[in-house]
Amino acid sequence: MDLISGPACFPLMLVLIITMFNLSDCYDPLDPIGNISVTYDIVRWTEDGYQARITIQNYYKYRHIDKQGWELGWTWAANEVIWSMSGAFATQQGNCSAFKSEIPHCCKKNPIIVDLAPEAPPEKRLDGCCHGGLLAASAINPSNSFASFEMKVGNIRGNYTAHKPLNLTLMAPGPGYTCDEFIDIDPTTSLVIEGQRQEQVIRTWKSTCTYSTFLANNSPTCCVSLSTFYNPEVTPCNLCSCGCKLADNEAKSCIGQSSSLPYERELLQCTDHMCPIRVHWHIKKNYRKYWRVKLTVSNYNLDKNYSNWNLVVQHPGFSQQATVFSFNNTMLSTVGVPDEVALFWGLDFYNDALLQAEEKQVGSVTTEILLLKDMTSFTLSNGWAFPRRIYFNGENCEMPLPQTFPMLPNGCSREKPCNSHLSVLLLSIYLTYKTLNFWS
Ligand SMILES: *[C@@H]1O[C@H](CO)[C@@H](O)[C@H](O)[C@H]1NC(C)=O
Ligand SMILES: *[C@@H]1O[C@H](CO)[C@@H](O)[C@H](O)[C@H]1NC(C)=O
Ligand SMILES: *[C@@H]1O[C@H](CO)[C@@H](O)[C@H](O)[C@H]1NC(C)=O
Ligand SMILES: *[C@@H]1O[C@H](CO)[C@@H](O)[C@H](O)[C@H]1NC(C)=O
Ligand SMILES: *[C@@H]1O[C@H](CO)[C@@H](O)[C@H](O)[C@H]1NC(C)=O
Ligand SMILES: *[C@@H]1O[C@H](CO)[C@@H](O)[C@H](O)[C@H]1NC(C)=O
Repeated sequence: MDLISGPACFPLMLVLIITMFNLSDCYDPLDPIGNISVTYDIVRWTEDGYQARITIQNYYKYRHIDKQGWELGWTWAANEVIWSMSGAFATQQGNCSAFKSEIPHCCKKNPIIVDLAPEAPPEKRLDGCCHGGLLAASAINPSNSFASFEMKVGNIRGNYTAHKPLNLTLMAPGPGYTCDEFIDIDPTTSLVIEGQRQEQVIRTWKSTCTYSTFLANNSPTCCVSLSTFYNPEVTPCNLCSCGCKLADNEAKSCIGQSSSLPYERELLQCTDHMCPIRVHWHIKKNYRKYWRVKLTVSNYNLDKNYSNWNLVVQHPGFSQQATVFSFNNTMLSTVGVPDEVALFWGLDFYNDALLQAEEKQVGSVTTEILLLKDMTSFTLSNGWAFPRRIYFNGENCEMPLPQTFPMLPNGCSREKPCNSHLSVLLLSIYLTYKTLNFWS
């Protein structure tokens, strides 16, 4: 850990600052048009208002809304009340004392709506409801990436006019999302009579909500460590990637910044990086036509399981055929991004949950990946075989500094980058032959 001391501290700080600056930009180059859209359909007029159907659709490829779930809020433009709801409920009823015979479900000027639990009784249910607020990532589970609910809005007194709700907010459940104002779009249509007739709603409004790590005010929550078969040295996560451990080395647990709720703290195993999540990339074997990587995700939280975790890895090697043994995976289509991007998540009932750490061990999920070599680009030198970028649950994982990457054992010191390309080449050829076993 001599990295942090002396003049080496300055470049480290610089990289940290640059990383934080990058994160403050809400634009994610790997999912540039990702968003959560909220569609507000006025389905029909009622005596004193209208019946509405609201649909929340997660278009983020690998960002999901996890436990505790979404909370949708807005401010009514007039004196609307919600007479009744199905598929969701308002968290507070508010002051309904002006109503005598029938009491509305919610009279608040700024209602907050949350999803029902999966156990909700049938009469409260609706298609696409009742997932306890969970919204899956669209590239992983598209059929669970939306939620919808209906409500009967009243008290707008005649004339068949409806006012767009103002100041839409989406909490997940912490901050991070910003929603546009509702705009008019073409009315939503649906097919009936076995697809022979198209019906449309009266009016449709839509708002787009986008996520920003900066707004969520999250400190980094994930870091990357590296190792190889050709160098016994492991490159650990950057010191203090997510926070610094206090001097007390005897402590059994440390307090870290929460990944989902920035105003909460979480209990972690004490480490030099203080990240709740560490991703380890190990170059395990170098065969003639293939190379093999072991990928491990470790959870250092002492009281938090990640139920629907996912991992994004950007690496040029994914342009070739890849066999992934113990994770589910897909390649993401990305435009204008130089290297291929793979998305990994757990296999159902096997490792789809990343369990919490215990006192002596961490929770972890792991897989091996066998990659076909592209002979023109594959190399073990110059850090080519290490990932370019990794995200855990959509959050960036801090990479170690390139000068700390495990080197080929060619005698070049880390401080003085080796200029002899020939020796590197010879060494990699030697290593290639030395490590051939299975595939020869
Ligand atoms: C939201 O995502 C959808 C689906 O990817 C896309 O068609 C739409 O353009 C996005 N909207 C914005 C405002 O980026
Ligand atoms: C509830 O609303 C009524 C009128 O709608 C008002 O007179 C009363 O003061 C309100 N009560 C509270 C506690 O705000
Ligand atoms: C309702 O319609 C009448 C006549 O068309 C109009 O005078 C009145 O301003 C309208 N009220 C509202 C609230 O739009
Ligand atoms: C909506 O938000 C804006 C900006 O935060 C604020 O100025 C405005 O008063 C809000 N409108 C309502 C109706 O709450
Ligand atoms: C995490 O999962 C384990 C095993 O299913 C369970 O014993 C533990 O209580 C869970 N922890 C939390 C915080 O839910
Ligand atoms: C892989 O993911 C897909 C989409 O979420 C799912 O339908 C399938 O069951 C998963 N396969 C396994 C083995 O978990």
